[in-house]
Amino acid sequence: MNTENTVRPRTDDDLTACAEALAEVHRHDGYPVNWPENPGDWLTRAAGLGAWVAVLDGRIAGHVALDRGDEDDLAPGLWGDTAATAVVSRLFVAPEARGHGVGVRLMERAVAEARRRDLHPVLDVVASDSGAVALYERLGWRLLATVEQRWSPEQTVTVRCYAAPAAV
Ligand SMILES: CC(C)(COP(=O)(O)OP(=O)(O)OC[C@H]1O[C@@H](n2cnc3c(N)ncnc32)[C@H](O)[C@@H]1OP(=O)(O)O)[C@@H](O)C(=O)NCCC(=O)NCCS
Repeated sequence: MNTENTVRPRTDDDLTACAEALAEVHRHDGYPVNWPENPGDWLTRAAGLGAWVAVLDGRIAGHVALDRGDEDDLAPGLWGDTAATAVVSRLFVAPEARGHGVGVRLMERAVAEARRRDLHPVLDVVASDSGAVALYERLGWRLLATVEQRWSPEQTVTVRCYAAPAAV
């Protein structure tokens, strides 16, 4: 595989291809845990500060979003100053594109945008998303807490909350 790739801002025209890649990730890894009714809307509503795609061999190979977060996000409150944080989410890389640093490059892009805005990057990740947990820890992100979060009366999920390392 040609591992040359580009990370660029997502456009509305990318949403269908992003949703298709996300569906593949959901089948492969169970991310997201609950398949959204409208994947395009799910990707868009977490992207108030930006969203980026990785393009590999002309195809959408990955995605990440950045947002101010909402009441469902735990990490901003744990960081101590919700107004000073930006939430990284909706990170995924298509299974066939993994292991070539695409995830790292997407994270770098989202983190750079948060820092450009003088916001500290934080995130919540479902504990069973072990590849993502390994990626964040490899990038030096600090575990703030592990929380049992009730998503519905029938569903409680273990969530790990992280903050990016200080900028150097
Ligand atoms: C997590 C994910 C984005 C990683 O994508 P990727 O492009 O393969 O990641 P990278 O190649 O940039 O990995 C960089 C490093 O992260 C770590 N890492 C990534 N995936 C890993 C895995 N499955 N197991 C262990 N370590 C892993 C490794 O240290 C790796 O470095 P190495 O290849 O030198 O060992 C991808 O596995 C994925 O889409 N997972 C499902 C979606 C998900 O759970 N999202 C969580 C959103 S909160």
